[in-house]
Amino acid sequence: MPAREAISGYYAGQGVSIPPDQVLLTPGTSLSYWYAFRLLADEGDEILCPRPSYPLFDYIAALSGVIMIPYPLGEERNWAIDLEKLETCISTRTRALVVISPHNPTGRVATSGELSALGELAQRHDLAILFDEVFNEFLLQPGILPRPAGGSAPLVLTLNGFSKMFALPGMKFGWMAVTGEPGKVRPALRALELISDTFLPVNEIVQAAAPGIFTRGRDFLAAYREEICARWEIARACIDRSQHCNYAHPDGGFYVTLRIGHDEEVAAEGILRASHMLVHPGHFYDIAPNHLVLSFVLERELLRNSFPRLLRMLGETRTADRDPNGG
Ligand SMILES: Cc1ncc(COP(=O)(O)O)c(C=O)c1O
Repeated sequence: MPAREAISGYYAGQGVSIPPDQVLLTPGTSLSYWYAFRLLADEGDEILCPRPSYPLFDYIAALSGVIMIPYPLGEERNWAIDLEKLETCISTRTRALVVISPHNPTGRVATSGELSALGELAQRHDLAILFDEVFNEFLLQPGILPRPAGGSAPLVLTLNGFSKMFALPGMKFGWMAVTGEPGKVRPALRALELISDTFLPVNEIVQAAAPGIFTRGRDFLAAYREEICARWEIARACIDRSQHCNYAHPDGGFYVTLRIGHDEEVAAEGILRASHMLVHPGHFYDIAPNHLVLSFVLERELLRNSFPRLLRMLGETRTADRDPNGG
């Protein structure tokens, strides 16, 4: 209970009421997804998931017998959810939709207006919302993350954990906050407790440490958050000087997605071979061709040294792509 009280207290500090008995502890957010998929969908049911997105969900869905149906995020609209297109993806087998905010890898934060429209859509179609907020502490502009909990969706599962928040992925400690209509929340919690108990308790040492991590980690988190914003400013300044790419400003998280106007494999491989810098081609995340995903969670000095070189290399790989024989 102390761990769940600490999580409830964390949300209270952000103006969100989540009683401790509506929090389920999990061994990390990836496992939370698996629990949620098992809870919400039978074999062959569908769950809507944003495209592009972090390439984990397809595998978790495959393991749970659930079919992932991608809904598009439009780059031309700064990667916002297109509600009309999303609605056309809903079928009689759809059980839930996944919203990731801040989104990995686009950095897009869903606005409160978008979330309330999503809540209404979820209500109309009787869908649960899985809200993945693992990057919630890393907003690149001051503010508190808009959340769907408390909106009109019948059931909201809010997923978060220590992996990003305290840079402790190895702790394998996450949670699901279950909110919505009491008639949906109570049975969901009972079923989730059963799924969770099947695997015996979440690491009890980590559970015992959790309240202390929340309180003693506060200063670390404040400094970490500031550091991420500073690192983004360094990366942004370099990218803004480059003529070889465009991008939509991320609102949060650790990544920026660049549109480079030439072959992403040629670019990623050329950069890796010539300068040993690893960037991800966009297809890792199901992005349309000609994109790269860059992390800016590098130490400031390293960013200052590597980003200008990397962006210069983009120009060189573009020339090589357009003129492979050099003639
Ligand atoms: C958007 C998103 N959700 C979930 C996860 C997985 O988190 P965890 O380490 O808690 O399993 C990641 C990991 O990078 C992620 O990017």
